Amino acid sequence: MARILLLFAHPALEKSRVHAAMLKRVQQITDITINDLYQQYPFFDIDIQREQELLLSNDIFVFQHPLYWYSSPAIVKQWQDLVLEHGWAYGKNGRMLEGKKIFHVITSGGRAESYNKEGYNAYSIQDFLRPVERTARLCRMEYWPPYVIHGTHRMNEADINIQSIQYAALLSALRDEKIDMKETESINYLNELLPIRKSIET
Ligand SMILES: Cc1cc2nc3c(=O)[nH]c(=O)nc-3n(C[C@H](O)[C@H](O)[C@H](O)COP(=O)(O)O)c2cc1C
Repeated sequence: MARILLLFAHPALEKSRVHAAMLKRVQQITDITINDLYQQYPFFDIDIQREQELLLSNDIFVFQHPLYWYSSPAIVKQWQDLVLEHGWAYGKNGRMLEGKKIFHVITSGGRAESYNKEGYNAYSIQDFLRPVERTARLCRMEYWPPYVIHGTHRMNEADINIQSIQYAALLSALRDEKIDMKETESINYLNELLPIRKSIET
């Protein structure tokens, strides 16, 4: 069984429709550690030792957050800046995260077709995630493609419910090591690994 650490970041969870529903689903899954960063650190006073211990005791790190200004909510950056210390996470002797897996779970107001060269947002989600991809590689981690839910503004309660169920199914499958991660080499989004998605879209 893979040990999954969910690093959750939503600065206004009381207003959230999508992440609130996704989080509720994930809370029903056993053996996944949920670390709600805004709840844990309302004043951004990240406990570095606590966070590093959580990283050491897990295999897969999932950063779940809405896309804000083509990036992450601020606490994710604060977390990276403080927790990924030189000599611990990177640098000549910084090998504590070597071989760990990391991916992002992102929701965006913008539709999928707006996130490409010809689209309204001009770049892909992968392009916007380059800094975290490079950071992960610098820390010798295995970087997986993101799991992305686009077009949140147009989603109704039923859509959100389906998306939440699918997301929970992904995390359960990863926890149970039922997904062959070699497949990630040829895909853009982890969503493509879920057969259920196809049946919902057609
Ligand atoms: C401050 C802020 C910045 C946002 N920036 C973006 C953005 O850059 N691109 C985008 O597609 N959506 C953007 N959105 C829309 C959010 O991604 C969307 O509202 C969110 O994914 C919905 O999830 P929630 O219901 O859990 O809040 C932004 C929303 C806010 C409040």
